[in-house]
Amino acid sequence: MIKSFEKKIDDLKFQIELGVTETIKSNINEDFNKSGLEDNKITNDYNDLSEIKTLEELKSFIENYDKCELKNTARSTVFCDGNSESKIMLIGEAPGNQEDIEGKPFVGRSGKLLDKILDFINITRKNCYIINIIPWRPPGNRNPTTKEIKQCLPLVKKHIELVKPDILVLVGSIAAKSILDKDLGITKLRGEWHTYKDKKLEIPALPIFHPAYLLRRPTSKSLVMKDILLLNNKIQDNKP
Ligand code: URA
Repeated sequence: MIKSFEKKIDDLKFQIELGVTETIKSNINEDFNKSGLEDNKITNDYNDLSEIKTLEELKSFIENYDKCELKNTARSTVFCDGNSESKIMLIGEAPGNQEDIEGKPFVGRSGKLLDKILDFINITRKNCYIINIIPWRPPGNRNPTTKEIKQCLPLVKKHIELVKPDILVLVGSIAAKSILDKDLGITKLRGEWHTYKDKKLEIPALPIFHPAYLLRRPTSKSLVMKDILLLNNKIQDNKP
């Protein structure tokens, strides 16, 4: 009882550190954790993205897409950061407070940690490309719901199709589960390469712990370093 109370206090402190400014209505996305992405009743409000041929067109489509309720509460549409010519694409979960203010992914506290981790293998925003599964900040930094993920996933797939990276890095559980379409947690998925398949694309994908998780559990940093070395090996193998 006391333990669970302490955990709640700890969670709240952490959320404040991450920039939460509203009362959080739901704890975690139980909906997502329970059912994976199997709920076939949820459909998208758009069917065909085949008309979209460029990143500019995709950006404009997302900026004008108003069926996802998260857009009503977010300040910015966070589309991407980094270099779209790069062969490494990182996919996170959703913007937090600082990302919502600046309109760029991973610029808050966890983004700074992600930068530090990537810097070990000389990856910077000049030689990687970063997006999120969800382009709008969920209120109170809550996890996105299955419906929101399902609404945004085809846009992410289109984003991957347009950038055509050689390597995907899936940052955190929600990105890993949604992109790989697997109902397993990040602890099970990390530590090895998977393959993202969509239409004719087959791209090696590496799930890693989310930096926000590492901020809470610094002891897991050694595992992320192992994964980063796997990533470095793959980059070296891919070099001409
Ligand atoms: N966490 C994410 O997953 N993405 C961001 O852009 C910021 C924090």
